[in-house]
Amino acid sequence: MVCGSWLNVSGGPADSLVNEYDTDLLSAAFHQGRREALRSLLPENSAAIFFANSIKNRSNDVDFEFHQSPNFYYLTGYTEPHGIFIIFKEVQSKDGQRFDELIFVQPRDSTKELWVGKRLGVEGVQKILGIQSAFANEHFADFELDFSVFDQVYVIPDDQVMADNSTDRGDRFSLKKHLQMKMDTTGRNINTVLLKEMMSGLREVKESEELELLRRAIDITCLAHQELMEKIKVGQNEYHAEAILEYVFKSEGAEYPGFPSIVGAGENSCILHYTTNRKILQDNDLVVVDIGAEYHGYSADVTRTFPVNGKFSKEQMLIYNIVLEAQEAGIAACLPGNRFWAANQAATRVIIKRLKQLNLITDSREYRKYFMHGTSHYLGLDVHDAGLFGNLSEGNVLTVEPGIYIPEGSPCDPKWWNIGVRIEDDVLITKTGYEVLSDCIPKSVSDIEEMMAAPK
Ligand code: GLY
Ligand code: MN
Repeated sequence: MVCGSWLNVSGGPADSLVNEYDTDLLSAAFHQGRREALRSLLPENSAAIFFANSIKNRSNDVDFEFHQSPNFYYLTGYTEPHGIFIIFKEVQSKDGQRFDELIFVQPRDSTKELWVGKRLGVEGVQKILGIQSAFANEHFADFELDFSVFDQVYVIPDDQVMADNSTDRGDRFSLKKHLQMKMDTTGRNINTVLLKEMMSGLREVKESEELELLRRAIDITCLAHQELMEKIKVGQNEYHAEAILEYVFKSEGAEYPGFPSIVGAGENSCILHYTTNRKILQDNDLVVVDIGAEYHGYSADVTRTFPVNGKFSKEQMLIYNIVLEAQEAGIAACLPGNRFWAANQAATRVIIKRLKQLNLITDSREYRKYFMHGTSHYLGLDVHDAGLFGNLSEGNVLTVEPGIYIPEGSPCDPKWWNIGVRIEDDVLITKTGYEVLSDCIPKSVSDIEEMMAAPK
């Protein structure tokens, strides 16, 4: 990279999902529809406020790649920092102008764009995103808005740490400061709880445009798993496996991994969110591979566990088959009308029964020693996506991912030690049942062994 003294205050590396190259981005009509859906949830005489994410510094002149706030992206399609979006229940009038939403964004700036990439600017937001009441962020400070006139002003509490660029009146720091100055100083009408709930209710039901992107992210992730099952070798490092996986992500057009890839072999298979990925793969290791490509903002999350040498040992197979049976029971419980946690309950029942049969536990409550997480989360713009965790309904996408982890030193026969197994699929709830979106990767012991033994 080239050096520049203001690199870290200019917007971070270019990360525009709104670009001139991709033709399958979410449409302006989709975002507009989501804004209308939110407006219909807002009570009379209310407003809701959203900030774009902050830029996060990695060290000195280098920032982390910018990632937009999922709520901001969902409602606007805007993928740059230093923005604020305000949606009103009713049409507002000011200086002869009428609007029911306002967005303040980074203005075009040829010098900064030369360094970190094109900005959409005010005109781009109007033309491409279709939000007409758009302004440069530096004008937010002087834009007359009196939030004390509303019965309710909804905000999501802001936990972002942000640097102040004192030369920029429109940076995130200034937007927040000037919003506070426009708020009712008594805090009487400020609600910091319900907006998150409203957005969760919207985001937990995926629209067809979202499902297209999510399916693409999941298909890419499945390809990566298949590629690794065919290429993995004893003697490689965990990071070789990670490289094979992420090569597929990138070469298939996924912008990023949706979360750091987990490639945990042997003892590391028992670390739930292991991401060091440095160990040398040994002959008798099982490897937990928990990965998800992110495509245009939507992240997959699929886990497979398999033996590095292509053949399960007797103990590995016994534990693997318990997890698989639990997962199948969990998936079968993913029916519209069932509670969100039905899959967790069904999977847990299987795990308790089978762990008892293997004498790994005697009391049902002891299962937590070996299965210490839930089976499910929603999936979407966040890998652990927003949702209300009530009853399942058409358009929900959730994971089903039971696991059993027996680290060295566990109170059982050492023959079980260092066996960690997790199996995870992504499940779409349909009108009458479910569809497993990630079912093209082998899952049974025989299918995995067959695939790994196939001539390369
Ligand atoms: N894929 C990691 C998790 O769901 O926590
Ligand atoms: Mn998961």
